[in-house]
Amino acid sequence: MTQPGEQDEVDSGLEELLIFIRDARGFDFTGYKRSSLARRIRKRMHEAGIADYLDYRDRLESSAEEFGHLFNTILINVTSFFRDSETWTYLQREVMPDLIADVANHDIRVWSAGCASGEEAYSLVIAFAEALGIEETAKRVKIYGTDVDEDALRDARTGIYTVKALEPVSPELRDKYFEKNGGQFSFRPDLRRRVIFGRHDITRDAPISRLDLLVCRNTLMYFNVETQAQVIDRFHFALREGGDLFLGKAEMLLSDSERFEVVSMRQRMFRRRPGVAVPKYQTMPIRLDTIGSPELREVSRKRQLRDLALEAAPFAIIGIDADGIVILINSQMRNVFGMTSRDLGRPFHDLEISYRPVELRSVIERAYAEHRVVRVSSVERRLSPDEVQYWDIQIQPLWGSDGLSAGVILTFIDATIATRVQLELKRNRQDLDTAHEELQSTNEELETTNEELQSSIEELETTNEELQSTNEELETTNEELQSGNEELETMNEEMRARTAELDEARTFLEGVLFSVAAGVVVLDGNLLVRSWNKGAEELWGLRADEVRNQPFFNLVFGLPTAGIQGVVQECLATGKRTGPIHVAAINRIGRSITCTVTCSPLKSNGAGEGAVLLMEELYRD
Ligand SMILES: C[S@@+](CC[C@H](N)C(=O)[O-])C[C@H]1O[C@@H](n2cnc3c(N)ncnc32)[C@H](O)[C@@H]1O
Repeated sequence: MTQPGEQDEVDSGLEELLIFIRDARGFDFTGYKRSSLARRIRKRMHEAGIADYLDYRDRLESSAEEFGHLFNTILINVTSFFRDSETWTYLQREVMPDLIADVANHDIRVWSAGCASGEEAYSLVIAFAEALGIEETAKRVKIYGTDVDEDALRDARTGIYTVKALEPVSPELRDKYFEKNGGQFSFRPDLRRRVIFGRHDITRDAPISRLDLLVCRNTLMYFNVETQAQVIDRFHFALREGGDLFLGKAEMLLSDSERFEVVSMRQRMFRRRPGVAVPKYQTMPIRLDTIGSPELREVSRKRQLRDLALEAAPFAIIGIDADGIVILINSQMRNVFGMTSRDLGRPFHDLEISYRPVELRSVIERAYAEHRVVRVSSVERRLSPDEVQYWDIQIQPLWGSDGLSAGVILTFIDATIATRVQLELKRNRQDLDTAHEELQSTNEELETTNEELQSSIEELETTNEELQSTNEELETTNEELQSGNEELETMNEEMRARTAELDEARTFLEGVLFSVAAGVVVLDGNLLVRSWNKGAEELWGLRADEVRNQPFFNLVFGLPTAGIQGVVQECLATGKRTGPIHVAAINRIGRSITCTVTCSPLKSNGAGEGAVLLMEELYRD
């Protein structure tokens, strides 16, 4: 039995939370090792953004969904096909042939307890099919896969696995036992039918019985010592005599050698021992039927020899008759326990030896009652504070040939040296066991941490994959943006060329307008001044920047604009040139002049968009 010896400190907050979970959901985590359990619960609390156990309990009370998240975090489902392949090779080569030979006449019953998503149960089917053949396995082998985790069982029941999950299975075995199912593989249906999955709590539910092989790997290590012991009791019941128990590489059956034989400690393979019958002790009656016969002399000679032998025996011996009277004390008894011949003929219960160093009267009664030798081992006799002796005392009732009680003989054997060695050995063994247990506990702790790490790695891998896919999306968007950018740049280039062309055209037009000696004013459709050339500046004395975008007919300068409103309106309305008309005006230097005004429509793409006024001073000859 595994003895983790974990010294988990009691955290009352955690304990109360566990009791709440048990009472609210019937899921009992109180038998789990606190170290890893606390780590997992804290992990979930952290993910839920809660720091305190009480607050977390409130969350559980208000959200049924949170229970699911918590269970998924606590129940680590790390598993794989033929996990620890070396051990599976051992199972197939060294254990299964005997197992199969042993059960030649009946079905083979196997239990994968804590099977997670089923890889272990299917690995067992494959192992049996490889040993027995597919047909025979489909007929004779029944495999029970159980777990407490319903989600994991749901996956197990589908029997469908990804290419990655099947990596530990060789391509030959994969093709033999799996069928392609889209991008995944499903376990072949004829053998799939031989696996029965079900929810089962190994700490609470009645075990499956009459098993030939029980596989419970990497599950026991999550429990504390007491719970592990209870589970092992159930497993002992579940296995038939000689059935095999296969544990995980960090798990062990310590101090259970009475019930389980070690098949291979390295591979964590154990075998349930058959029950052992205790042999009955046989007493040897003393023959007293020669007394009074003609051979009396001879008999008394023999008796004398027997008495002498008893007297000289290397053990202290005291003989008591059926009435409880001391009739024999040998020399060792006298030397070691200080008895004398005066004690002969006295009732045994009056003597100190009857109760010191150990109470012997009741033991004698028991020996009589049970008709057998009773032994009292390693009785301590303290001679002084520093000097201790240990005695093994044998109480042997004697029966006459008539079947009546003849008395009892007590033999005291000095076991001081042996007991000391034994005590020393026991101490050493305990030290060794403690060291072993500590090692085992560390090993289990390492393994659970390892599994936690593996599960975190899997989570990280998923996150990584998500990041990678986001990254790919970003890259696609980037490329799209880049191509948009290139298009924009081309358009920009075109615009720049157009602008240059336009600038050139404008400069050209401005040059033309500048060179025209007459005043040229361009008005837009709203009669705002769009252009005011040099000729107009010189004629009227207003600069182009003073009038640009001003309503032409609001401008006050030497030309009375009201006089030309008619020609402008007509030109805009008809789209035809109007004028010339002569208007009396005052030029830039204040001289009265006659100004000839012609109005032409400003056309762009054929539509009237304004008017061009041509203004010239009229010179008369
Ligand atoms: C790490 S997995 C081991 C899977 C598989 N046996 C292997 O070694 O690959 C441990 C499994 O034990 C299950 N488990 C935990 N407590 C359990 C309990 N009380 N009864 C049955 N299964 C339990 C978990 O749900 C998990 O699927």
